[in-house]
Order: sequence, then C-alpha cells, then structure tokens
Amino acid sequence: AQAAREKSKTLADFMKEAADYYTAQLRATPKAVEYLRARAISGETAARFGLGYSPEGWHALEEVFKEKYSAPALLEAGLVNEKNGRRYDAFRDRLMFPILNPKGQVIGFGARTLKGDEQPKYLNSPETPIYHKGSELYGLFEGRDAVHEKGRAIVCEGYMDVIQLSQAGFPESVAALGTSITPEHVKRLFKLTDRVYFSFDGDGAGRKAARRALEAALPVLTDTQQACFVLLPPEHDPDSLIKAKGPEAYERELENALTLSAFMKKLLLEGKELMYAEERAKLVAEAKPWILSMQAAPVLRLALVKEIAAMARLQPEDVERQYGLASSPTP
Ligand code: CTP
Ligand code: MN
Ligand code: MN
Ligand code: MN
Ligand code: MN
Repeated sequence: AQAAREKSKTLADFMKEAADYYTAQLRATPKAVEYLRARAISGETAARFGLGYSPEGWHALEEVFKEKYSAPALLEAGLVNEKNGRRYDAFRDRLMFPILNPKGQVIGFGARTLKGDEQPKYLNSPETPIYHKGSELYGLFEGRDAVHEKGRAIVCEGYMDVIQLSQAGFPESVAALGTSITPEHVKRLFKLTDRVYFSFDGDGAGRKAARRALEAALPVLTDTQQACFVLLPPEHDPDSLIKAKGPEAYERELENALTLSAFMKKLLLEGKELMYAEERAKLVAEAKPWILSMQAAPVLRLALVKEIAAMARLQPEDVERQYGLASSPTP
C-alpha cells in the first residue's frame, strides 16, 4: 500500500510538472495562441482550464524532466513512449487539455492536433493508477460549484464543447473522456445535482452516445432525479452551435430537451409500424431490459410500463407479467 501511494504521488507530480510546462509553452507559441483565437477561446478561458501546448520535436520533455526522463513512471504516465529502448515525447505539436480529478490534481491529458482534421485528431493519456476514464469527467473540478449553483449539469462529448459552453455562460458543463458515459459517471453527477442534461453531437455517433447514456442512467436514476436529452441538429455540436447561433440558441436547445421517458419512447418508436402486432411485440421486447434496469425509480418504471402497454395496445398487467414484475397475488 505504501508503494502504491508512492507511485500515485510520483505520477501526479509528473503530470503537474508536464502541465505547467505545456502552459508556459502555449504562451510562447504564437500559432497555438492563434489556434485558440480562431476557435473563439479567450485567454481567460484558456487559463481557467489550464490549456497548454506540447512543442514539436521528439524530446521536449527532456528539458523538463532531465535525468527523470528515463524514469519508469514517466512511461506509465503516458507522457513518453518507448520504441527499441529509446524514448520520445508522446504528445507533440498539440493543444493540451489537462484533466483534473476532484481534488484538482492533473491526472491525464487530452491533446488535439492544430492541423485541422489530421488523424488522429485527439490523443488521450492511458488509464493509470490515478486516471480512471470510467469515473472521471472532464471539467468537473472546474464546473463543480456551477453545478451546485445552477442545480443542473450538462454532459457533452468533447473538450472543446465543455470549454466553449463554460465561456458562453454554461460553466456547469462536463464531458466523458473519449469513452461512453458509465453508470459511475451518472452516479457522480447525481450526487451533485438532481438534473442532468446529456448534450451530445447531433451526428449519428452523438445519437448513439445518447442512447448509451440513457442506458447508463437507467439503473442509477431515482424517482426524484431527472435526466434530459438535448438533440442538436445533425450538423452541430455544442461548440459549433454556440459559435454559429449564440448562447441563447443553446439555452433554447436545453429548454426543448426531451425528458428521459420521452427520449426512451422516441427510441422505441423509431422505424416501427405499430399497425402490425409483430412490431408492437418487438417494442415490448426492446423495452424490457431498460425497464428491468430501473431498480432505483419504481414509480417512473411503473409509469413507463403503462405507456409501453398503451403503445403496444396491451393491458399494463400483461406487460408487467411479461417482464416478471407483477406482484404475486396475496393469498
Ligand atoms: N475523441 C478522442 N479521440 C479521437 C476523436 C475524439 O478521444 N480520435 C474524443 C475527444 O474527447 C473529443 C470527443 O471524443 O473531444 C468528441 O469527438 P469529436 O466530436 O470528433 O471532436 P470535437 O470534440 O468536436 O473536436 P473539435 O471540435 O476540436 O473538432
Ligand atoms: Mn481503471
Ligand atoms: Mn463527434
Ligand atoms: Mn464534436
Ligand atoms: Mn467540435
């Protein structure tokens, strides 16, 4: 345990040293500053999120870490890679987004190319003993107070979405880190607020992410909590929508968000011709795992069973029995 603590401390120290270096490099690199300007990110916002820049070349971090450049922890931290026994910087010529844990310690980085749509567009730190993607949320440390004050959290897909939203007056924004939303993420958010908006990209990938977020929310949600789904136009993500149409347009998107029950019904109805009994049966079958996972929201579950029954033109009791939810009759 002592050794594990030492290792975590070393990893956190290395991350902090790297983050400070990247921040200093950003100030000294006109093309990186220009990139942020072109994306309408102010210096103040960049400072709030500790944005940085990783220089070109292969060994810039040698200047920072000196003899520690060969330390095992630097490899484990994902700050350097190794090939044929030789090390080189993992992040080069990229805009750096430090990822903070709830204590404000740097535990990882996202890194965007400055070259338009060059692939890979983003590089991300690997999982380490201090960085668990399934539970950490980008922007949560920076946005935590705002979540409390506003009584809501907004979950989006990308680093730039969080930053642009925050700057536009929605500092209660967070993102999952290049992974799907997990029940653990949702639990963490519902500890801070009773209202969570999922606001992913309007494209097909964003819609799929919304469906997965619904599935992550179902087992966690209670009857006093609300999950809402913002369905943006296909050509936009929160960042681009705000840049194109302004913060008021985004606020309207929040107002028009679907409730969890409305979003679930929309997904169930999509592509179905309910004049056919087969399609109605399919709807009941598709809803089953979702309904059964709603263990923490018994009343909402009951209400949804009734709505599913109505859509399938069945009695609620029939659906309950199909789902194995019917309470056994008292003798
Ligand atoms: N992502 C990733 N690796 C990639 C592409 C995306 O980890 N190769 C993650 C990043 O966290 C990214 C998010 O998925 O922020 C959403 O991806 P995408 O919509 O493609 O990027 P944007 O955030 O919109 O990036 P930008 O606006 O800078 O183009
Ligand atoms: Mn892990
Ligand atoms: Mn996308
Ligand atoms: Mn996007
Ligand atoms: Mn984007």
